[in-house]
Amino acid sequence: MMILAFPDYLSQAQRLAARLDAPLAEVVLHHFPDGESLIRLPPSLPEHVIVCRSLNQPNDKLIELLLCATTSRELGAKRLTLVAPYLSYMRQDIANQPGEAVSQRIVGKLLADWFDDVLTVDPHLHRISSLTQAIPIKNAISLTAADQIGIFLKQQFNHALLLGPDSESEQWVKAIAGNIGFAYAIADKNRLGDKQVEMSLPDRDFSSQPVVIIDDIASTGRTLAKAAGLLQAQGCQDIYAVVTHALFCDDAYAHILDAGVKTIWSTDSIDHPTSCIKLDALLADAIKAIT
Ligand code: R5P
Repeated sequence: MMILAFPDYLSQAQRLAARLDAPLAEVVLHHFPDGESLIRLPPSLPEHVIVCRSLNQPNDKLIELLLCATTSRELGAKRLTLVAPYLSYMRQDIANQPGEAVSQRIVGKLLADWFDDVLTVDPHLHRISSLTQAIPIKNAISLTAADQIGIFLKQQFNHALLLGPDSESEQWVKAIAGNIGFAYAIADKNRLGDKQVEMSLPDRDFSSQPVVIIDDIASTGRTLAKAAGLLQAQGCQDIYAVVTHALFCDDAYAHILDAGVKTIWSTDSIDHPTSCIKLDALLADAIKAIT
């Protein structure tokens, strides 16, 4: 077994390699002036290769993944495992308007063609219950960071109220709250556009304890910021946030802090100053279970 790590996921892959006691090689990446990518791998590979890269900013990364998977097979890999803690293109699971691409199905099929196993964490699955419906291979494995987030929160707070900003977040918030014995509440959200969300909080007291907003993704940050604004209006001064995937597009991070969130924490699915919740143990156990 060998770990192949793309540069943007190197430190996380090194932790994973240490857990698996496996050698690691970094994928050498070059971008030509016109934007084309060139990758270089070790000239000879073992039978089992684990390619590690989160798929935020996915358009370039998917092409580089294709180059990596195809070249890995040419260089001797018989089994290719993708570890992509953040998996892109999972949101668009139906054609909302006639003529729209169903990206989840299309990208899922590509990954199924390129890899024997795909492991990810808290993917955005809305209308499907299993990742294998999006990536049609046996080992399309959806892990959850709920345990790691719960352990982290328990170290930070004696007690806090966990808030899910929308119905989709309930699966994670409920699991985390159950694990650590904290109470939780779920808000009602309606997305009007990329940077516009409407939200209402459930009817309860938010002013007497810290509130931690929990979501899978912070992308534009508008969801977390809206929740924070509503909490402040209810008298809550102690607001925190945890996300699995720290996408933080453009001004998102500053926007969330400006809205009154004191601290944001995230997992290391994407490298960011907030990413203090490590996933290597979760990923290593999942890899051991399928090898
Ligand atoms: C949506 O359903 C997701 O769970 C997140 O709430 C959403 O992707 C966050 O996006 P943003 O940061 O752009 O509001």
